Amino acid sequence: MKALLLSQKTYDFEVKDIEKPKVSKSEVLIKLNAAAINHHELWTLKEKNLKSDAPILLGSDGAGIIEDVGTEVERLKPGDEVVINPSLNWGEKDRIQSRQYEILGFPTRGTFAEYILIGAQYVYPKPEHLSFEEAAALPLAGLTAYRALFTRGEFEPDSKILITGIGGGAALFAMNFAIASDAEVYVTSSDETKMSKAIELGAKGAVNYKNNDWSTELKKMAGGFDIIIDSAAGPGFSSLVDLAHPGGRIALFGRTAGNISSLNPRAIFWKQLSIHGTTMGNDQEFKAMMEFISNKNIRPVIDSVFPPKDINLAFEKMDQGKQFGKIVMDLNNFSSSFQK
Ligand SMILES: NC(=O)c1ccc[n+]([C@@H]2O[C@H](COP(=O)([O-])OP(=O)(O)OC[C@H]3O[C@@H](n4cnc5c(N)ncnc54)[C@H](OP(=O)(O)O)[C@@H]3O)[C@@H](O)[C@H]2O)c1
Repeated sequence: MKALLLSQKTYDFEVKDIEKPKVSKSEVLIKLNAAAINHHELWTLKEKNLKSDAPILLGSDGAGIIEDVGTEVERLKPGDEVVINPSLNWGEKDRIQSRQYEILGFPTRGTFAEYILIGAQYVYPKPEHLSFEEAAALPLAGLTAYRALFTRGEFEPDSKILITGIGGGAALFAMNFAIASDAEVYVTSSDETKMSKAIELGAKGAVNYKNNDWSTELKKMAGGFDIIIDSAAGPGFSSLVDLAHPGGRIALFGRTAGNISSLNPRAIFWKQLSIHGTTMGNDQEFKAMMEFISNKNIRPVIDSVFPPKDINLAFEKMDQGKQFGKIVMDLNNFSSSFQK
C-alpha cells in the first residue's frame, strides 16, 4: 500500500510502498478515505525530534470504510463507515492518562496512508450527517476541545467564554461546541477575515490579538470571562488571567506562541482562578463528543482539502497560520494522485 512516510533526514513526507497490514484477533483494517493534519505533526516537522529504526507513519485523524475485522470483533463489520479515536491507552483514571498513553501516529502507525490497522475499541461509526472529509477532521481537535471546554473548563450554562486564536482547528471546535451549548462566545485572531467568519458562525465579538490593546478592547466589549480556552500560551497568556472572572477557569492545551513569560499571582489567588492543563481526552469523552456532534448536528469547519501528493504544502499552510479550520487530505485515489 502507499503511505506518506516521514523522512528522518529532511523531515518532510515521501510517498513509499509498504506492506499492507493484516488483521489479528481484535483489530480492524480500514481503507482510509480522508485524514486530517494537526499542529501535533507540525511540531515534529519543525523540531525534528522523532527517531526510529522503523519507518515513521504519522497521522492521528482518519475516516474510512472497514475492509476486514479480526475473529474476535463483533461490533463492527466490513463495509462499515467509521472514524478513529486517536487517544490510545488512556487507562483507568479519567483525570490523567496512563504511562502507556500515546497519540495515534507514533509509535503506532497513523493515518497518512491508504490503510490503517487499529484496535476495534478505537473505531466508531461515522456520524451520518458528515462526509468522510468532515469526519476525518473531528477526532484529535474535537476531542481536545471537548475535554477542554466541558471537563477541564467545567462548563456551566450561561457561561461567557473566550477562545483565543480562532483560526486554529481545535479552537474552532471549542467555539462550535460552546455555541451549540448556548454560551456567549468571544474570540481572538490575527486576521480580520477570520474574525468576521467567527462572527458569522455565531461568536458575539472578536478582537485582533496583534493590536497592543487587544485585552483592554476585549474587556470593554465583554466585561470578563468564566471560561477561557487557550492553545497559544506565550506572552499574551498573562492578559487572560486579567480577563478571567472571579472563579474563572483557563483551559490550556497548546504552546503555539511559546512560553508564558509572566503571571500576576495576586490575580490568580484573589480571584480563585483555576488554570487547567488539558490534553486530548479519555474514551468516555470521545464517545460523548461523537454523540454531541450527532445530536447537535455539528459540522467541522474545513479550511481546505489537499491531495496526498501535496502534504508538504498542506503543512506549509498550517505553519504560516493561513487556515481557518481543519486542513484535510483526500485519500481516495491515493496512487493516481501521484501520477497526475
Ligand atoms: N495538548 C493537546 O492535546 C493538544 C491537542 C490539539 C492541539 N494542541 C496544541 O494546540 C495548538 C493549536 O493546535 P491546532 O492543531 O488547533 O493548530 P492550528 O490549526 O495550527 O492553529 C494554530 C492557531 O494558533 C493561533 N495563534 C498563533 N499565535 C497566537 C497567539 N499569539 N495568540 C493567540 N492565538 C495564536 C492562530 O490563530 P489565528 O489564525 O486566528 O491568528 C493559528 O491559526 C498547538 O500548539 C498544538 O500543538 C494540543
